[in-house]
Amino acid sequence: MPHLSSSRRRTVLKAAMATVVTGFAAPVFAADPLKIGLILPLTGPFASTGRQVEAACRLYMKQNGDSVAGRKVELIVKDDTGVAPETTKRLAQELIVQDKVSVLAGFGLTPLALAAAPVATQSRTPMIVMAAATSIVTSKSPYIVRSGFTLPQVTWPIAEWAAKNDIKSAVTLVTDYAPGLDAEKTFVSRFSGAGGKVLESLRVPLRNPDYAPFLQRAKDAKPDALFVFVPSGEGSAVMKQFSDRGLKEAGIRMIGTGDVVDDDLLESMGAVAVGVVTSFHYSAAHKSPQNQAYVDAFMKANRFRPNFHSVGGYDGMHLIYEAFGKVGAGADGDQVVAAMKGMAWTSPRGPMSIDPATRDPIQTVYVRKVEMVDGKPWSIEFEKFENVKDAGA
Ligand code: PHB
Repeated sequence: MPHLSSSRRRTVLKAAMATVVTGFAAPVFAADPLKIGLILPLTGPFASTGRQVEAACRLYMKQNGDSVAGRKVELIVKDDTGVAPETTKRLAQELIVQDKVSVLAGFGLTPLALAAAPVATQSRTPMIVMAAATSIVTSKSPYIVRSGFTLPQVTWPIAEWAAKNDIKSAVTLVTDYAPGLDAEKTFVSRFSGAGGKVLESLRVPLRNPDYAPFLQRAKDAKPDALFVFVPSGEGSAVMKQFSDRGLKEAGIRMIGTGDVVDDDLLESMGAVAVGVVTSFHYSAAHKSPQNQAYVDAFMKANRFRPNFHSVGGYDGMHLIYEAFGKVGAGADGDQVVAAMKGMAWTSPRGPMSIDPATRDPIQTVYVRKVEMVDGKPWSIEFEKFENVKDAGA
């Protein structure tokens, strides 16, 4: 709608949404393309998330063909810049009303997934959350299915591991928004419950974070370990300050969820990351034939290492292909979501399934340590917790 003012455009979109909601949408014919609206941060501070998810979705299509149940699959990719929930919501509405997508997918950060949730509900469109990881996300619409992970799910294993491995005290450092608060709450309760002592809990702003004063404060508290959660893209900045402020030399270990040693950045972090222990659902170094094939194909197509968000995208596409393959091209949103519930498969990350109760993944969470292999840092898995569900926060 290039000639309409933004308020006029909103009115038209609202009216069109109402039409969709009241059920006068055009029937789907098998010959119509199956359009997937992929909304991702492709610019701005979280652009790496979009780059990873889009690359993985395209790889999945290249490997599995571009048609499902007789419909040609069409990916429509939109950049929401990662920091403007109202933009994400508008893009979701436009994708439904103008492009007539059958599925919404992507969602790089929790506030963006929350903004789009009502659009999925009103239009009865399956919404595959590939990256955002706050526990509450799937509760915001019955049409949301998550293909990535949840923060509580990947946080408690490192809390238990730390308490059992001579870490008696910790300071927590998280980004001050929903997933950070999930991580903080889960770590504090599980680590304290296992006998550990949390000396201080620090929260860094999401926008324009300056980690230096927080890491100085953490150092001054003299904990055995610093637990860190920051969203993907931020790991290098934290690692730099950890190194510059001399926390390692002071005998403080860095532990966390795997976001801080994100495979997208790990190679460029180099030796400072060595020794960091995290718990997570995916490492590019995961040893399995499926992952070996995945990493090889991904790196050949993209020339960068796949990270955890990439498998969120890849497995999200698997869910879409399998569900439409099962219920048929003309299925409605309710039938598609029903087909996704309980679905189980082997991902590059290991075995996973969709919890029919919460629509979150049930998966293996690994404890990993960064080690140099052939001169490059990788998160090497050495312990695992199987069939981990979202624990809530
Ligand atoms: C989120 O906003 O939910 C989020 C983003 C990036 C992460 C983890 C969680 O690495």
